[in-house]
Amino acid sequence: MNNTQRPNPPADATRAITNGRTSAEHHGAVNTPVYHASTILHPDVESFETRHDPTSNRRKVIYGLLGTPTSFDLEEVLADLEGGHDAVLVPSGLAAISVALLSFLKPGDHALIADTVYPPTRSFCDEHLASMNIAVDYYDPHLGAGIETLIQPNTRVIFLESPGSFTFEIQDIPAITKVARDRGVTTILDNTWSTPLFFKSFSHGVDVSVHAATKYLSGHSDVVMGAIICAEHAWSPVRRTHRHLGQCVGPDDAYVTLRSIRNLSTRLNAHHKQGLALADWLNEREEVAEVLHPGLPDHPDHAVWKRDFLGASGLFSIVLRPKSREAVLNMVNGMELFRIGASWGGFESLMIPVYPEQYRSATHWDPSKFTLRIHAGLEDFDDLIADLKAGFERLKRSSKSD
Ligand SMILES: Cc1ncc(COP(=O)(O)O)c(C=O)c1O
Repeated sequence: MNNTQRPNPPADATRAITNGRTSAEHHGAVNTPVYHASTILHPDVESFETRHDPTSNRRKVIYGLLGTPTSFDLEEVLADLEGGHDAVLVPSGLAAISVALLSFLKPGDHALIADTVYPPTRSFCDEHLASMNIAVDYYDPHLGAGIETLIQPNTRVIFLESPGSFTFEIQDIPAITKVARDRGVTTILDNTWSTPLFFKSFSHGVDVSVHAATKYLSGHSDVVMGAIICAEHAWSPVRRTHRHLGQCVGPDDAYVTLRSIRNLSTRLNAHHKQGLALADWLNEREEVAEVLHPGLPDHPDHAVWKRDFLGASGLFSIVLRPKSREAVLNMVNGMELFRIGASWGGFESLMIPVYPEQYRSATHWDPSKFTLRIHAGLEDFDDLIADLKAGFERLKRSSKSD
């Protein structure tokens, strides 16, 4: 490709490699080194006393808590990939959610939260926000512009997560953000499933995008981290709350996550392909009643997903046709490649039973629908299929002996 054919701006896969790279400041090292630092020494008192000058470079190294070259480079590449103004790092995905919510809510306010959020988001709202006299209502994730009827004079935040945790409903994000903008309400989206590559929050009107970097951004099941990416008008409240709550991340974690971002596009496209291929295969099995994957044409929200998203990650669920719990556990416990574990977004495949009915209040999930959440890892496809076939064999055998 010659220069005139190159996309402008460069494609995500390129920017994930070229952005947030300050090699010239590190003797040419390709990867920004790890800086273990708390105290930063100054050459003189004048420089020390002006260290917080708000007009100086935001990425000035002042004190370890406030960032080092490694964390600054990671923030920069994340904000760029999603099309945001700036980003901060926090010690977990849940911290990204709580810091973002606390940035825009104060006692007496009201928040609308999607009914299908990650369960600890719900606990934070029900227990922590409630104790601060912040009222919370849950809404059906399929409410698009209709969310307007739920907005109260004191509503300050609408929180979205799309697809929904465990059940993978896709929200009409542009319809919700339009209403929110018109009514002066801040929108916060948990965009962990898509990463900054597969859903461009800010071009769909979102104000704040939160991520569990624990998942695909770090991508190797060995880091716990979060990131908050903001539109320009939402940046200062988040920056202030982040500072007040003393949030920062360890330098080694920032390093490995930055290293993983360089090949995020390759990994995510592989998860997309693997997830869809597994979902397609599972859709044909008679043991499976439903495959909850928005990338499948028969998913009820497929059209909205196709309109707004640029891909699917490797996480989805299946609902099994009625079987005893013992039979299902016999299947899951015997899997060799699909391992049992919380979290997702690493290179490995996972399978766990989930119970969405325990975390719904505005919508209903039939508790008799035995649901398994699957993470499509990067193993060989045929090996994964062999593991699933053996699992369904066990399910059949133990169902016979029920
Ligand atoms: C959608 C979603 N958001 C946030 C989180 C929280 O991430 P962390 O485990 O880093 O706190 C998770 C974790 O599973 C998640 O699935």
